[in-house]
Amino acid sequence: MSAFSLDLSKEFAGQRVLVTGGSRGIGASVAQRLIDAGAKVVVTARQPHAQTPKDAIFIAGDTRTKEGADAVGKAALQALGGLDILVNSVGAARVHLPNSEAISDDEWLDSININFMATVRVTSAVLGALKESKAGAIVNVSAGGNAPFGGPLLHYGAAKAALNNYSQGLAKELAPIGVRVNIVTPGPIITPGGDEVRKTITSAMGITDEQFFATVPLKGRAGQPEELAEIIAFLVSPRAAYITGHNHFVTGGWGELSL
Ligand SMILES: NC(=O)c1ccc[n+]([C@@H]2O[C@H](COP(=O)([O-])OP(=O)(O)OC[C@H]3O[C@@H](n4cnc5c(N)ncnc54)[C@H](OP(=O)(O)O)[C@@H]3O)[C@@H](O)[C@H]2O)c1
Repeated sequence: MSAFSLDLSKEFAGQRVLVTGGSRGIGASVAQRLIDAGAKVVVTARQPHAQTPKDAIFIAGDTRTKEGADAVGKAALQALGGLDILVNSVGAARVHLPNSEAISDDEWLDSININFMATVRVTSAVLGALKESKAGAIVNVSAGGNAPFGGPLLHYGAAKAALNNYSQGLAKELAPIGVRVNIVTPGPIITPGGDEVRKTITSAMGITDEQFFATVPLKGRAGQPEELAEIIAFLVSPRAAYITGHNHFVTGGWGELSL
């Protein structure tokens, strides 16, 4: 091995991890990435899917409510005997056409619960354990890139903006005790949830998937969940020990949703 190569194959050995929204998509990729490097991982979602990592411990729960989030946090701590890493990938974008006037009050609240409060509540439920870890780290998965979502996704963008503010405020609060909090903002990524949203958008715009992805500056291509898993693995690792409170864009340079 050269002096400059890193052997990351056991980087997370002994680390205890909780991934919300870990049954599929970006969360499942993150869970698999950390399992492959030796971590013990709990994933949570309402139900397991075909993509759910086989070597993860699955805990079912709906984290939109405080009761649901508390129960998931408690069960995860019991299964792991503590916690070192929390990745909040839970989230959902529901497109309401033609514009924000189609978003009902209930849908606003649902978006806030799933895209913001689920992360706040799960984090609160496990924060005591993270503070006891020698290297506690949190990554929250956001959305929005360089420009805020509007129109049919206004409620989603607003909830993710709250998530960003919360994450950066929490990073500041926890920095003195060494718990790091970072945000990762994906661009258009191939996942079951992302594909569903994109299908609604492209059919409303009357364009193909190829035309949609052509708007991504970096080679006009979609992102893969593994590309998110890689930066998240870095951010929760000791390699990122001096990085906290930042929003890291993994968007292929894609900032605006032209709907
Ligand atoms: N894919 C993209 O292009 C993209 C772009 C920007 C941001 N993001 C963000 O990236 C994150 C992951 O998205 P993804 O594309 O991987 O989505 P996905 O494929 O739909 O996965 C979402 C995960 O969240 C879980 N979940 C949904 N509702 C839940 C609830 N009420 N309680 C508990 N778990 C719930 C899902 O499982 P169940 O349905 O079984 O509960 C699943 O495990 C989200 O925060 C999303 O906003 C994605």
